[in-house]
Amino acid sequence: MSKPKVLVTRKWPAEVEQQLQHFYDVQLSQQDVAMSPYELKAAMQIYDAILPTVTDPITADILNIENNRVKILGNFGVGYNHIDIETAKKHSIVVTNTPDVLTDCTADIAMLLLLMSARRGSEGERHIRSQQWTGWQPTQLLGHKVTGKTLGLIGFGRIAQAVARKAHFGFGMKIMFFNPSPLPQELIDQYQAVQCSSIEEVLSEANFVSLHCPGGEATQHLINEKRLKLMRPSAHLINTARGDVVDSNALIKALKEGWIAGAGLDVFEDEPNINAEFLSIENVTLLPHLGSATEETRIAMGNRVLENLAAFFAGEQPIDRIV
Ligand code: DGY
Repeated sequence: MSKPKVLVTRKWPAEVEQQLQHFYDVQLSQQDVAMSPYELKAAMQIYDAILPTVTDPITADILNIENNRVKILGNFGVGYNHIDIETAKKHSIVVTNTPDVLTDCTADIAMLLLLMSARRGSEGERHIRSQQWTGWQPTQLLGHKVTGKTLGLIGFGRIAQAVARKAHFGFGMKIMFFNPSPLPQELIDQYQAVQCSSIEEVLSEANFVSLHCPGGEATQHLINEKRLKLMRPSAHLINTARGDVVDSNALIKALKEGWIAGAGLDVFEDEPNINAEFLSIENVTLLPHLGSATEETRIAMGNRVLENLAAFFAGEQPIDRIV
């Protein structure tokens, strides 16, 4: 029997690519550049499986192509708001993702941004690199203490819980959160957390707010001008979720006008074309979507896609099936 034809849209860790080559008739990404909608449409007619990632918007237009051959989209990543799930479902295309394996590393990046924003890490580094540092001063680059402060989480899924664990047990922070659906009390008690009944409550009370909701239409600009104005002037906003959860123009205004003290961002609206105004703002820490970017995690993500594919082509249920 011939091997299923599989397309990988971006470069993956070598050891996972080798596994793919072993099991499938696979087309790997040579250039490692994002594919165009035109190329993705053509691919829909050639391959049995496409393994896309966050840089590939799999729109209805692409999925509605005639003579489609693709039966499974094995997404490399946990977030899947770049895939039109309803249209995939309409065409009976299975979609899978890679949860769990990136939880800790993404939570680490949220903590990194929290600490960098609180302690003005980026500013300090820029200070040294630009050769302006003349020595220790009692009042230089004063930030905000983290221990004992309140961390507010918007969304309380796997990654938010990992952040809560690190922040509470590692940094002595108090935890409050808003989650759209009720959660078991035992889970909440693990972190001695307080469940809030609204996003507004979290924003107005927390010293640090970290976003952990999925991207997509329902959460677009969830954090807007009105909500940013509810935050404390000494508070910091951390985003490792999806860029469009935050209205960038409103955040830029908030940072410039001092409605909040700082922000740490790993994700942006319209990546990688980030709003250029961010570049000249001192009190924002910017990272290039590094959430899951460790060797161990990227290999684990690739292996998770392999597991999902193997199950699918064996006629079984992939563990991470979304539709
Ligand atoms: C994820 O896994 O969702 C990362 O943000 C990359 O897509």
